[in-house]
Amino acid sequence: MARIFGDAHVRRFYPKVLTVEETNVRINLAIERARTEGFHFQAAELKGSGELIGLIGLGVLSEWVQAANPSHRTVEIGWMLAKEHWGKGLAPEGAREWLDYAWSIGLPEVLAVTAKENAPSQRVMQKIGMTYDPAGDYEDLRLDEGHWLRPRVVYRKRNPTS
Ligand SMILES: CC(C)(COP(=O)(O)OP(=O)(O)OC[C@H]1O[C@@H](n2cnc3c(N)ncnc32)[C@H](O)[C@@H]1OP(=O)(O)O)[C@@H](O)C(=O)NCCC(=O)NCCS
Repeated sequence: MARIFGDAHVRRFYPKVLTVEETNVRINLAIERARTEGFHFQAAELKGSGELIGLIGLGVLSEWVQAANPSHRTVEIGWMLAKEHWGKGLAPEGAREWLDYAWSIGLPEVLAVTAKENAPSQRVMQKIGMTYDPAGDYEDLRLDEGHWLRPRVVYRKRNPTS
């Protein structure tokens, strides 16, 4: 996972790559969140070989995103895969399973958030039936004004069974 988090191309829509230590902090946080919230971003593996290819999962939206727009107080879906596995529809495949899980535990809605410039991630959102919410546009206040990654977008999907 540290190789993926440390890859500048994988992280090109993020402010920086992560070190091994920072990756371990994320993994420990994910384990803790899964324990307290019941779910979090988790390792994604190839079905056939079990090879670790990245992460896909659900997470309660982080506090800074919720602070940017209180109506976002909900659960997000997200993904990050090693670049040799891009373009095979694996992120949508895993994300659909996670959406089914979200509906099975009765979540009313799932959001997805990303940098406005991150077209590949928005393609995954579209492929799994999420809808862009123009009213949800917000800024990543951790970044300087004018930073190209500051504008962020929100996609939504409601629980089809509720
Ligand atoms: C976003 C991401 C998970 C997509 O995963 P995936 O399994 O490749 O998804 P898909 O195969 O459905 O491809 C989705 C889009 O990615 C783009 N894409 C596919 N292969 C690509 C490649 N080799 N290089 C660059 N972009 C590529 C295309 O725009 C594609 O859309 P299309 O199918 O309409 O052409 C993956 O690109 C990734 O891990 N990116 C880096 C991390 C990241 O930005 N995560 C999202 C943070 S919000």
